[in-house]
Amino acid sequence: MGSPAHTQRSDTPDVYTALSTYDKPAIRRYQKHTRMADLSHLPGTWGVPFLGHLFWLLKDVHGWMDRQYQQYGPVFRARTPRLDSVFLLGPEANQLVFQNEQGIFSNFLAWDQVFATLFDNNLLERDFADHKANRRILQSAFKRPAIEGHMQLMNPMLRDGIFSWQTGRTIKAMDHVKTLLLNTGARVFLGTEAAHESDTLNRAFTSVVAATADPFKRKEIWFSPYARGLKGRQILNDYMTDNIPRRRNQPGHDLLSQFCHLRDDAGELFSDEEIRDHIVFVLFAAHDTTTSALSAILYTLATNQAWQDELRAEMHELNKDELEFDDVPRLKKTGLTLKEALRMYPALPVMPRYTLEEFEFKGHRIPANAIVTVSSLFTHYMPEYWTDPRTFDPYRFSPERAEEKQDFFQYIPFGGGAHKCLGMHFSEVQSKMFLFHLLKNFRVSKDPAMTRYRYNNVPLTFPTDGLPLRFDRL
Ligand code: HEM
Repeated sequence: MGSPAHTQRSDTPDVYTALSTYDKPAIRRYQKHTRMADLSHLPGTWGVPFLGHLFWLLKDVHGWMDRQYQQYGPVFRARTPRLDSVFLLGPEANQLVFQNEQGIFSNFLAWDQVFATLFDNNLLERDFADHKANRRILQSAFKRPAIEGHMQLMNPMLRDGIFSWQTGRTIKAMDHVKTLLLNTGARVFLGTEAAHESDTLNRAFTSVVAATADPFKRKEIWFSPYARGLKGRQILNDYMTDNIPRRRNQPGHDLLSQFCHLRDDAGELFSDEEIRDHIVFVLFAAHDTTTSALSAILYTLATNQAWQDELRAEMHELNKDELEFDDVPRLKKTGLTLKEALRMYPALPVMPRYTLEEFEFKGHRIPANAIVTVSSLFTHYMPEYWTDPRTFDPYRFSPERAEEKQDFFQYIPFGGGAHKCLGMHFSEVQSKMFLFHLLKNFRVSKDPAMTRYRYNNVPLTFPTDGLPLRFDRL
């Protein structure tokens, strides 16, 4: 890939310093005084008046991207009532944006449009040196000893949760997965013991997540999802403020306790506020993404009964009641299934960044102060890289075929570069453990009339019908 041509620096260069040092007042000043760039010189249209392309982005982002690509190529503009953006499609675009070698792209200025103040000070919104320093500290909470501790907590919770599901009739599988992951998350991430405490936190958390999708985000409208989300966030904050001092004095397997004992290179601990904001975001980053992934996996298994039997056999071969850390890589066919489900139905189909400088890509001038969007979903179906991309074919990821290895940036369900998902390994462990307890004991099936996976891609890839599936005890 050729490096992008720099033709103009934005007129307030100290935004780099502000982002690198996470000087929020300075970043907010920059946002206030900066106009978003005009993108009308780029290929594409502005869609319909007022709504732009919103309808298509909500209804069928994949089909819409395909049509735009056919008509305009890999660079085109898009509009929603809140924002204009430019789509950059394909592995070359993914590499440019994720590697961010020239420091052209900011995460804060892009993701802030989604999170507003709901997930203040989170890792994904941090940039450059400040991001590196925070990520370095946090990543030790995702290493083997920590994950082994989480596994001890998760094994019984996932097994008992699955056994409580109704069998012999169709149930909304996604809702059950969601609740199971919320309860598990409250225990594994926050260390809550009491069910009523988990319920309160789960309700608060759910309202914060719902608020991210509120297009207006006006706190004065007291009944709006955003206003309710801010109240939910306060409940989470209060819980953390009460619990962090206790966790500092007592080691535990849950992630909150781990965060309380993390130190930077100078030996300094995180402040209470830093711990609070990091843990609330991790809870968010883990929850809906894993719900999305497990829903897609369940659908693919319900559709492919013979393959489901092969995974079940692989699990019985372990000859164990509980999954341990070293068993995880031994579940090879299950691993291929996770990869293929995330190829076909990536939880985050598009990812935004904000341009701090003008550059050129594929002959197009992309201005500073614009939102650029890259897409896992589009890249995961490019026929140049994938054989028969619409077919469920886990063996495409086998070492013999390794279709995903032609280009390092063609398969990006977990993003790439400095911001690549911090919970990638944790999610593999959790997903395999869930399937281990499920498939050893139950068969999952669907009504033959259900001929396709019905899902929306905004804000994340979720089944629109709650995923009606049937579980039968073996
Ligand atoms: C299948 C499940 C998951 C998927 C598909 C997923 C996907 C992603 C993606 C695409 C990003 C990058 C977003 C961007 O670059 O704009 C990301 C970042 C992140 N994820 Fe995940 N994720 C999953 C599970 C988890 C879990 C279980 C955790 C924590 C336990 C987690 C924690 C994070 C964090 C902290 C970041 C921000 C990293 C950074 O900015 O340095 N994720 N995830």
